[in-house]
Amino acid sequence: MVSERRIVLTGFMGVGKSSVARHVAHLLKTKRIDLDQELEHGERRTVAEIIDAEGESAFREIESNYLRRALDRPDLRVLSLGGGTWTVDRNREMIKASGMTSVWLESTFEHCWLNIAFSRKDRPLARDKQRAFELFQQRQKYYALADWHFVIRADSTSFDVAKQIVEQVFS
Ligand code: S3P
Repeated sequence: MVSERRIVLTGFMGVGKSSVARHVAHLLKTKRIDLDQELEHGERRTVAEIIDAEGESAFREIESNYLRRALDRPDLRVLSLGGGTWTVDRNREMIKASGMTSVWLESTFEHCWLNIAFSRKDRPLARDKQRAFELFQQRQKYYALADWHFVIRADSTSFDVAKQIVEQVFS
């Protein structure tokens, strides 16, 4: 019996939030919403273009607006956040107020960095390894506030992680 829970997936860039969310949604026979994709679709610009043109704090304002809209959607069941979304106080408050369950996908920096380095996604806040590592360290305390933690190992597949989430969070 699958519970009616609704989840947001958080974690550092490159940890695999989007692909785990896709598998979770597939297993639950539901849709997933990806916050970056929604924002890029709505703004008709990439996240990188927004951050490069207007800076991070303007991007965070836009991101919070899209988060609010996503949380208002009656069909929302699985939402993958951007890596910084959960670290902003107002966003965590909105998510808590919406009654969603938060899930942190936790991994090592090196694991995330490998995925970042091999990905085609342009991540303005992770163009430099040292800067990305500092962000990673600063953010751990926020991610640790999530309701659930799942540790992603180098040999975990996103499908296996999704199965664990469905079995444990939705049971
Ligand atoms: C960011 C993560 C990115 C994207 C933006 C900022 C961050 O999403 O939202 O580049 O601050 O960690 P991913 O975590 O999907 O890469």
